[in-house]
Amino acid sequence: MEKVCVLGAGSTRYGNLSDGIADITTQASAAAIEDAGIAPKDVKAAYISNVFGVADKQVHLGPVLMSNLGIPDRPSLSIESACGSGSVSFREAYANVAAGFYDCLVVSGVEKVTHTGTEWTTTYFAYCSDYFYEGQMGVSFPGLFASMARAYLTEFDATEEDFAQVAVKNHNNGILNPKAHLRKKITVDDVMRSAVIASPLKLFDCCPFSDGASSVILCTEKFAKDHGGDYVEVIGSGRGGSPAALQGREHITTIPSTRTAADAAYRMAGITPKDVDFAEVHDCFTIAEVVDTEDLRFFEKGEGIQAVREDRTSLNSDISVNPSGGLKSKGHPIGATGVGQVVEVFDQLTGRAGERTVKDAKIGLTHNFGATGASCAVHIFQSV
Ligand SMILES: CC(C)(COP(=O)(O)OP(=O)(O)OC[C@H]1O[C@@H](n2cnc3c(N)ncnc32)[C@H](O)[C@@H]1OP(=O)(O)O)[C@@H](O)C(=O)NCCC(=O)NCCS
Repeated sequence: MEKVCVLGAGSTRYGNLSDGIADITTQASAAAIEDAGIAPKDVKAAYISNVFGVADKQVHLGPVLMSNLGIPDRPSLSIESACGSGSVSFREAYANVAAGFYDCLVVSGVEKVTHTGTEWTTTYFAYCSDYFYEGQMGVSFPGLFASMARAYLTEFDATEEDFAQVAVKNHNNGILNPKAHLRKKITVDDVMRSAVIASPLKLFDCCPFSDGASSVILCTEKFAKDHGGDYVEVIGSGRGGSPAALQGREHITTIPSTRTAADAAYRMAGITPKDVDFAEVHDCFTIAEVVDTEDLRFFEKGEGIQAVREDRTSLNSDISVNPSGGLKSKGHPIGATGVGQVVEVFDQLTGRAGERTVKDAKIGLTHNFGATGASCAVHIFQSV
C-alpha cells in the first residue's frame, strides 16, 4: 500500500449561504487545490459527499465540479452515507490512493439545505433514519438523540447541566473559528433556559442546520514530497456499522460502529487512545459527544460526563475535543461535515489554526457517523 497524505485543504464558511450547491463545492475545491500548491490538472479524480443535492436541484455533482475546475475528462464518484458521508467518502478516496489507482485526488463534501426551512429539512433528515421504524413514526433526530440522553441520565451519574457544559465548551472553541456557523458565547444557564426541542435536549444542545462545503487534497507520499508544501500523513482508517434503528440495539448509550471503526483505526496506526492529542468528534447533540468520547475509549463507559464536568476535554486540557467548535458551533452541513473535520486536523497539524491551536499536537483523530451511528468512519492523522 502507498502511504497517503493530505496536501491541502479548503472550506467555505458554514451557515446560511446564498450561493448554490455547485458554486460552494467549486469554491472549497478550488481553495484546496490552491492551498496544496498544485494545478487542477494534477487532480486525477474526485470523491463527492452529499446527501440532499436534490434540495438545491443538483445531484450528480462530480461532473459539474470537474467541468467547473476545467478538468471535465476526470472521473468522479458521489457517496451518500447520511451525516457520515464526508468520512465515508474520505475513506473510499483513501483506499483508492493507497491502492495506487490515483496519485492525487480531491475529496469534497457539501450540503445546501437551509433555504428549505425547518419543517422540510427535518423531514429530509428523517429519511436518513430507519424510516420504517423511526422517521414515519414521527421520530426525527432530536427525538432519537433525546432517547439516548434520557437513557444516559438514567444509567449514569449525569445531569442536564453536564450536557449543557458540552455546548458551552464547543461554543467557546467555535468563537475562535472564523468559518463557524454559531459564533456566540453561551453559558450553562443559557442552555438550560433555551427552548425544549425534545426533552431533555434543548435548543443549545442541538447542532444547527447549516450549508457549507469542505475539500481536501489526498495524495501519495511521493506526490506530496515532489510538490513541496506542508502535508499530514493518514496513519489509521477504520469503518464500522450498527443496527439502523435504535430499537435494534442492545444498549442505546453506546454506538457500536464507533467502537469497531476506532479499534480498527488505532490498530492500523499502531497507537492507543492515550496517544491522541485532539479529536474532531460527531457532536450533533451534546449527548453524542459524551458517548463518542467513551466509545473512542478516551474515557471509560459512564465517565465521559465526569470528564466534561472536570473540564478535561476543553481546548488544551487533557484531550482537546472539537477544537473547531464541532457540529454544535462550527455547524453541520451534513455531507460536508466529515471532510470539514479533516480540514480542521490539517490546519491544526500544519500550524494554521490560529487562536484555537492545540499546543504541540502531533496526532489528530476524526470521528463522523451517519444517523444515530448506523455507519461510521474514524481516521487518524500524524504531522510529518
Ligand atoms: C434545534 C432546531 C430544531 C432549531 O431549529 P429552528 O427552531 O427552526 O431554529 P431557527 O432556525 O428558527 O432559529 C431560531 C434561533 O435559534 C438559533 N438556532 C437555531 N438552531 C440552533 C442551534 N442548534 N443551536 C443554537 N442556536 C440555534 C438561530 O440562529 C436563531 O437565532 P436568532 O433568532 O438569534 O437568529 C434545528 O436546528 C435542528 O433540528 N437541529 C438538529 C439538526 C439535525 O438533526 N441534524 C442531524 C443530526 S444527526
